[in-house]
Amino acid sequence: MAKKIVYWIVGFGCVIQLIRPDFNNPKVDTALALHADERVEKLLKSSCYDCHSNETNYPWYHHIAPVSWVMSSNIEGGRKALNFSTWSTTDQEIKRERLTRAKQLVNNELMPKGEYVMMHDNAVLNQDDKKVLDAFFDEELKKVTVN
Ligand code: HEC
Repeated sequence: MAKKIVYWIVGFGCVIQLIRPDFNNPKVDTALALHADERVEKLLKSSCYDCHSNETNYPWYHHIAPVSWVMSSNIEGGRKALNFSTWSTTDQEIKRERLTRAKQLVNNELMPKGEYVMMHDNAVLNQDDKKVLDAFFDEELKKVTVN
């Protein structure tokens, strides 16, 4: 009986691998992408870019269901909400909303997402990192040209 259950679990685990999300990154046009100083870019790349850019990295376990499904929905939703690779084409009003939200989310440790941080130690932001990002978001807010 116990053996049968194990067979079922293993079988199920294999079958779900057949549902594979598309993990091809769209092309990046650096002319459209966000540019910031080195420290900020490094922080954004290690903590946000896997979901909020077209430069997503895919470690091996991203290809294994159901992690692959969770990540694919995070990437799709994340890019839709905010894509640093196409930042300069983003509507000014949306920019203002996202930057304001980014400040809150980062300061309250809601971004990067918890399930992501669990698997990515280098995505964790310390107090200093958060201050740097907060100041950067403020700078970007000043550039937004909506009254
Ligand atoms: C694991 C993927 C992932 C990572 C990493 C991540 N995000 Fe997100 N983010 C999402 C998803 C998915 C959404 C869409 C809305 C939701 O599910 O909360 C989102 C939404 C947002 C929004 C829009 C929220 C709104 O209410 O309009 C902002 C701003 C944001 N993220 C900022 C960041 C910043 C800044 C970082 C890095 C410090 C980051 N995120 C890291 C997945 C991620």
